[in-house]
Amino acid sequence: MSFRLSRRVQRVSLSANAAAKSQAMALRETGRDILDLTTGEPDFDTPEHIKQAAYAAIAAGATKYTPTPGVRALREAVQRKLKRENRLDYALPSIVIANGAKQIIFNAFAATLDDGDEVLVPVPYWPSFPDSVRFNGGEPVLIECGLEQGCKLTPAQLEAHIGPRTRWLILNGPGNPSGAVYSEAELAALAEVLRRHPQVLVLLDELYEHIRFDDRHALSLLNVAPDLQARCLLVGGVSKTYAMTGWRIGFGAGPEVLTTAMTVVQSQSTSGASSVGQAAALAAFEGGLGFLPEQVAAYHERRDLLVSALSAVDGLEVLQPEGGFFVFVRCAGLLGRYREDGQRLNSDADVVAYLLEEGVAGVAGSAYGLSPWFRLSIATATISVREAGRRIADACARLRVEVEQ
Ligand SMILES: Cc1ncc(COP(=O)(O)O)c(C=O)c1O
Repeated sequence: MSFRLSRRVQRVSLSANAAAKSQAMALRETGRDILDLTTGEPDFDTPEHIKQAAYAAIAAGATKYTPTPGVRALREAVQRKLKRENRLDYALPSIVIANGAKQIIFNAFAATLDDGDEVLVPVPYWPSFPDSVRFNGGEPVLIECGLEQGCKLTPAQLEAHIGPRTRWLILNGPGNPSGAVYSEAELAALAEVLRRHPQVLVLLDELYEHIRFDDRHALSLLNVAPDLQARCLLVGGVSKTYAMTGWRIGFGAGPEVLTTAMTVVQSQSTSGASSVGQAAALAAFEGGLGFLPEQVAAYHERRDLLVSALSAVDGLEVLQPEGGFFVFVRCAGLLGRYREDGQRLNSDADVVAYLLEEGVAGVAGSAYGLSPWFRLSIATATISVREAGRRIADACARLRVEVEQ
């Protein structure tokens, strides 16, 4: 019997990240010494006061269904957080909670896209952006933003790609995988274009807002262009800032007509997010960010270690990330070179496979729509990051330009 799958599910794929990670794990299980730089989650533990709030919530009987748009106390905490940290005002009905930022994004597309509607996705992208669009019947319009433009969308590119079917633009800063952060001037220039196209909604993914390597305060398109607030969906959460990836809590803040429709979508899939997870997220938003500078300092040190090690490697070009926890590396200069076993490197997948054999696991840029690049995570122990830089430099130095006869 041939099992028929929906056309919708056939338009998307399993995460390339997860595949790279499981390949690294499988090699490790054979006894190989593999440094895993594939991971997209903090290597730190959830802060203790957040865990305590979760234990207390269970003890107090917070173990029942929650309202679909989220527990009121958590939505109010997000409202205060947006005011305090982002200088943004939202009415409570404009704030919704879901099972991670990922579900917020999915709900937004499910609530707004009809078949063939277009979503502008700057490349490189977090893979769920285009796949979430595809799953919901939309067409991602991929806009390549290469090294020469710091992996950031330019106003001219934005203008050139807006068409009659454009529903959304996605802006992600700090970016995964690039670590790129839009400056105030860059945001203002994009806002200028958006003002000419009032039908375009903007999804602002600011999940990595607090993981920044400069002293600038997190700046959103909404700080620069408050007049766009009625057509922006701001997406955030606790996964990265509070090392809470497994708790699955994210939020969205946007126009009420949108958040109401997103709540309808969620009511027919998962219902309200976990009661215990929401209690923990409430403690996170209300408990201050005192623990964070130490973690950001660690990411910063690892970024500097890796960027300086890889910048010195012939054949690699490194985009210095300004935030987030990835280093994105262009490897065009390695293509056409030969490994010691005579194999030729023809693609970023070949480069990643070679580095894996040399003991460093990363993810090929093709997973993020941009080749030939690869992504390395700095959300792993500093000693591993340092050693990874050394191994990559050593492995690249052993490549030959011509294969020996
Ligand atoms: C850019 C970006 N947005 C959203 C998410 C999803 O986050 P969450 O764990 O809140 O679902 C991720 C996770 O890797 C991400 O990198």
